[in-house]
Order: sequence, then structure tokens, then C-alpha cells
Amino acid sequence: MKFLFLNGVNLNMTGIREKEVYGAQTLDEINADIKNYFKDDLCEFYQSNCEGDICTAIHNAQAKGFDGIILNAGAYTHYSYAIRDAIASVTVPVIEVHMSNVHSREEFRHKSVISQVCKGVICGFGKNSYILAAQSFKL
Ligand code: DQA
Repeated sequence: MKFLFLNGVNLNMTGIREKEVYGAQTLDEINADIKNYFKDDLCEFYQSNCEGDICTAIHNAQAKGFDGIILNAGAYTHYSYAIRDAIASVTVPVIEVHMSNVHSREEFRHKSVISQVCKGVICGFGKNSYILAAQSFKL
């Protein structure tokens, strides 16, 4: 299968920021582990802090023939109607992921404006949130 692992704002700081929440591994290290786990699949990784770039990556995923997008939009999850509409504009299924359990954290993290247009939501399993999400496409 062909997966796009798409990370949004501040996820480039993984392994540096709030290690007690997001762990000590960098995003590159996490992506390497994911790639290793899905050896027989085609995995592409992209991170951007810019909302529009994330929207464009979602649009392009359609033409590039991805079977699924595993999206950690970071804080954009909680308020980006632009990303919500980008997801709604493609037929590629998107799974929303979070490394932390957003429901056990601050109130503002309890709300997602993208869940409604996503195939499913996985949160709270650290880097395994990404792996569980991609694995679900194979069930
Ligand atoms: C996050 C949770 C978001 O609330 C936060 O803004 C992030 C990371 C997570 O992976 O747990 O940047 O998406």
C-alpha cells in the first residue's frame, strides 16, 4: 500500500519539546521506525508548519495515488477549517492521529474540527498512533 504520513505544525520539534508528552525521539527517528515497520509498503513523509502546505499535500495525495493519509495536524487539528475542507475535497481516506491522549489534556485539545471528515481517529499511543492508523488500512 502507499501511505502518506503527514505532520503539521510544531511536529518538527518532536524529541526536543515537551519530551514527557511526546517522547525523546525526533520526528526523523519516528519516521525511520515507521518505514522499517512497513517494509513492504511505500511510505512517504512530509512535515510543514504552514497550513496551506498541508492543504496542498492533501490535494496532491489524490493524484499521487495514495491509499491513505495518516495526519497529525498538531494544533491545527483544533481550529483549521482550511485543513478540514482540504480533507473533504479528496477521496483519499485520512486518519487523524495524535501521539498524546488529547482528551486527557487541556480543554482546547478536546475539540477537533477535522474528525468529522476523517475515516477515524487514533490518539494516545505515542509513535504507535501512526503505526496503528496505517495498520488499520490493512484490516
Ligand atoms: C498533538 C496534540 C495537539 O494538541 C498538539 O497541538 C500537538 C501534537 C499530538 O500528537 O499529541 O502539536 O497533535
